[in-house]
Amino acid sequence: AAMRSFVEALPKTELHLHIEGTLEPELLFALAQRNKVALPYASVEALRAAYDFTDLQSFLDLYYAGANVLQTEQDFHDMTAAYIARARADNVRHAEIFFDPQTHTERGIGIDVVFAGIARALRQARDEHGFSSAMIMSFLRHLSEEDAFTTLKAALPLREQYRDLWNGIGLDSSERGNPPEKFAKVFARCRELGFHLVAHAGEEGPPAYILGALDVLKVERIDHGVRSEEDPALMERLAREKMPLTVCPLSNLKLCVVDDMAKHNLARLLRAGLAVTVNSDDPAYFGGYMNDNYLAVASALELSRAEIVQLARNGIDASFLPAADKGRLT
Ligand code: ADE
Ligand code: ZN
Repeated sequence: AAMRSFVEALPKTELHLHIEGTLEPELLFALAQRNKVALPYASVEALRAAYDFTDLQSFLDLYYAGANVLQTEQDFHDMTAAYIARARADNVRHAEIFFDPQTHTERGIGIDVVFAGIARALRQARDEHGFSSAMIMSFLRHLSEEDAFTTLKAALPLREQYRDLWNGIGLDSSERGNPPEKFAKVFARCRELGFHLVAHAGEEGPPAYILGALDVLKVERIDHGVRSEEDPALMERLAREKMPLTVCPLSNLKLCVVDDMAKHNLARLLRAGLAVTVNSDDPAYFGGYMNDNYLAVASALELSRAEIVQLARNGIDASFLPAADKGRLT
């Protein structure tokens, strides 16, 4: 109980959050009804019961199916507004949010609709509550690099309109068999364009994918990165370079990256000097938002209060906020 209030009181940042992964079953059902989309589940309870995953792909199949209910600007707004309310309740002060336009443009939804709905909710939260945020447009790695270029080309005309929010490019979806090198050219282009770069690596994929993300894609943070522990030289490099890892404990448990939270390597990585941060990934699917993620590792790994403070501090340092704004968060 003391630990819960301690975690709740900490100002936090969220750096690894897929907005489509915040769609709770209740809202998913409401949007299905609003848009007259048929669902293969009889009830909210039946849908939630299906969230029993064996690996990343078993989750992604449901996650992409769930996203089919998102059709209008209002839908993207409502999903984002619901996430912000939940994040604020956890004392999250700043969030850098992934969105996957290809999941939606593939279904005939305009990329402008996706940007507009998410951005309207984020701007409203900034104006009404001082909640700060950024948008990280992520490419789906199971699709081709050519498809990523098509998406970039469709998004760039929107850049001026969303300059206050859209500052990053990410890479997500099925990791195994889709190494970072597949996206070398499009990431090089995004780098020339001045975007911050991040990529999922070392969640299910091998340490070599983390090296590829660093050396070929030239990312500024590694999303997940837990498999770096298998390569001691890589671990030393990550510590030396203070390369942030956006670790997602409850996600790793639900997707069977670890079979027991007590065996999670977050504490070992942190104690080896890596810039570990705590994040919620797809909280509607993985059973917990930010405080739940902090509490899960605090308890299972017996973290000290100083270590918990360090995790939160790492999250502020690893954010893409200007230095002056980082200072305001501590
Ligand atoms: N898309 C949403 N969540 C993801 C994850 N944890 N890994 C890869 N792609 C994702
Ligand atoms: Zn993720």
